[in-house]
Amino acid sequence: MNLPLAAVLLLTLASVCAAHVISLRSSPVRRQPWQHRGVGKRLGPSRHVHEHLQRHMRPFSKSYKQPNRNFQTKATTRDIKLENHHNNLYYGPIAIGTPEQEFNVAFDTGSPLTWVPSIHCPSRRLSQKYNNESSSTYTTNGKPFEVSYDSGEVSGYRSYDNIAIAGATIHNQEFGEAIQRPNMFFDTLNDGMFGLGFNNIAAGEEPSVFDNMVSQGLLPAPVFSFYLNRYDTDDPDSVLTLGGTNPDYYTGDFTFANLTAPDRWQFKMDRVQFSNGDSIACKRGCQALIDTRISVIVGPTEEVDALNEKLGATIAAYEPKMYAINCSKVDSLPDLEFIVNGRKLSMTSRDYIIKAKNEYRDMCFSGIIGGNFKTEETRVWSLGLNFMRTYYTQFDKGNRRIGFAKPSSFQNRS
Ligand SMILES: *[C@@H]1O[C@H](CO)[C@@H](O)[C@H](O)[C@H]1NC(C)=O
Ligand SMILES: *[C@@H]1O[C@H](CO)[C@@H](O)[C@H](O)[C@H]1NC(C)=O
Ligand SMILES: *[C@@H]1O[C@H](CO)[C@@H](O)[C@H](O)[C@H]1NC(C)=O
Repeated sequence: MNLPLAAVLLLTLASVCAAHVISLRSSPVRRQPWQHRGVGKRLGPSRHVHEHLQRHMRPFSKSYKQPNRNFQTKATTRDIKLENHHNNLYYGPIAIGTPEQEFNVAFDTGSPLTWVPSIHCPSRRLSQKYNNESSSTYTTNGKPFEVSYDSGEVSGYRSYDNIAIAGATIHNQEFGEAIQRPNMFFDTLNDGMFGLGFNNIAAGEEPSVFDNMVSQGLLPAPVFSFYLNRYDTDDPDSVLTLGGTNPDYYTGDFTFANLTAPDRWQFKMDRVQFSNGDSIACKRGCQALIDTRISVIVGPTEEVDALNEKLGATIAAYEPKMYAINCSKVDSLPDLEFIVNGRKLSMTSRDYIIKAKNEYRDMCFSGIIGGNFKTEETRVWSLGLNFMRTYYTQFDKGNRRIGFAKPSSFQNRS
């Protein structure tokens, strides 16, 4: 699987107001009440056709039947099928308002806020924007919000409306309407973000969509889990399960790590090492986050430099944050091992090396990059999407822990 180089250099999630219009982008098929598992398959017509249909079908939307109460109130695990964009971004459908306005959102473990672009977002390149005037269930809130990403800041104001996800509707949910674009952006496919982080209720923040689903009895447990597939392989589709885990996608026991921070998906690692005993990092233990915002592993620069040098990787000429490696060496590289709660979580070189190509040749990069951490407290590793592809990950808010299990051994997955 070789990715276009531009996709590889897209390391962090970008956003919204900036997203280019992708003319062939399809839209989510409306989920029917009885389809509560694994739906959200996007087979729809192109955006233009879709918009045309929407415009001409508006009279019918009014008579769209609400999901029946029995289904709505049942506590059940709910799967959302995700699309994988070049291993950098996984996104799925949600709908806001009455009638429903549909959006594709990426899932963000780093923030509790769910936001989508507002009709007041000036970008003309954006196709999908939330319009409060065309929703009968919108109510005003008006408080500002701001979320920072590596690619810039997203800001706007908060509103309330119904949010539908995975067959459930959360009424009067607070969410963000983005009006400000980030300084720097990439060409991504998501309209907004779905927050799976922690909110600070004590500081007056309102519950996230996920927390409201739990408190309204729509989910059996305050747990969510990701199975992430690898781009351009025969792996089954990626799935986010709300309310628990889906045993179809993992095998064996979970290795659990207790959370070590009140408001982040952070835990303690005992050590980071190569399977051949080389170059140990995180020697006296360290802190790590599981982070859906980033596609690679980020650690303290000097430790990451040492790991990458052991691999024989050298700083990439045109992208000084990244380490390049001769592709012919990849198969002979050792496993990268994270020791967590006394157990070994390992990534093979297939898992941690990024293969890419430009028009001339294949290129390989290390999927471990250095970050600058100003204080000891912020010196926290981030295990991003490449780690989450290697381990099925459950986020257990009730027991304040994260669990890792091997994905099911699907064909072609070695
Ligand atoms: C939509 O939101 C804007 C900005 O908060 C507000 O000025 C406007 O009154 C809202 N529209 C409705 C119908 O409430
Ligand atoms: C994790 O937390 C649970 C509950 O507080 C505790 O029983 C358990 O010993 C902790 N595990 C570790 C490895 O600290
Ligand atoms: C990669 O390594 C092979 C075998 O050692 C060598 O023939 C080739 O020239 C190297 N490629 C680059 C781009 O350095």
